[in-house]
Amino acid sequence: MTAMVELRAASKAYQGVPAVQAVDLEVQRGERLAIIGPNGAGKSTLFGMIAGEHRPTEGSVWFNGKDVTTHHSSRRARAGISRTFQVARLMPTMTVRENLFLAALTGQRQGIRFWDALSTRPDVTEEAEAAMVAAGLADLSDVLASSLAQGARKTLEMAMAVVQKPTLLLLDEPTAGMGYDDARIATKQLGALLEERREMTIILTAHDMEVIHSLAERVVLMANGKVVLDGSPQYVADHAVTKELYLGRGAS
Ligand SMILES: Nc1ncnc2c1ncn2[C@@H]1O[C@H](COP(=O)(O)OP(=O)(O)O)[C@@H](O)[C@H]1O
Ligand SMILES: [Mg+2]
Repeated sequence: MTAMVELRAASKAYQGVPAVQAVDLEVQRGERLAIIGPNGAGKSTLFGMIAGEHRPTEGSVWFNGKDVTTHHSSRRARAGISRTFQVARLMPTMTVRENLFLAALTGQRQGIRFWDALSTRPDVTEEAEAAMVAAGLADLSDVLASSLAQGARKTLEMAMAVVQKPTLLLLDEPTAGMGYDDARIATKQLGALLEERREMTIILTAHDMEVIHSLAERVVLMANGKVVLDGSPQYVADHAVTKELYLGRGAS
């Protein structure tokens, strides 16, 4: 079986200082993987090498059986990689409903025109509505994106990424910056959204154990730019190495 994502001895150094060191990683179609590790472990850099913001200094990145090492992030996006927090996709002067509709339209990837789509593609409207309800945003449907609180804004961005129907969804710290209650709610809503898309491959970076336990089936622990552990959430959470890393230096 062709892996959805494959890193082959991928390394990234910033001005000669290694951030990720010769990482081999395979993520299979439909897998839900969380990448965890202390601050500076190389999680964001690894993420960036998959999404295309960072070019590896050595090694290669494969997506769906193709070597995409030299492909720009926009090209990888067209190939089916979607990630959260692309601010450009959240239109501040549009409502929650309008933002989701636009995202659902992007997911069609067929170059159909906006107004044509409105009248001839009721499925797009329905999808946007369904995602809005699943994400718990129905009460905020007519609120401008610019007026949303931080938690709702992140939830909207996640719902928009999901509704684009990517082959691979990358979620960078989905609950970072949220208070405890908002994070719990957002995790539940994200879980509900993703439950309807079992075919989607998901990689997330997180330090919130609740996020990891409810969304991931596999966890990779990184430290000093290397993969240290790779297994089930329970295996990694219970491992002495994880406890030492997290108690010793604090999570990030
Ligand atoms: N743009 C950058 N320029 C220079 N060094 C960087 C840059 N981004 C990250 N680093 C360094 O690379 C290492 C890994 O960082 P990062 O991938 O952000 O780790 P994490 O996401 O696990 O906290 C750290 O030592 C960090 O200081
Ligand atoms: Mg990071």
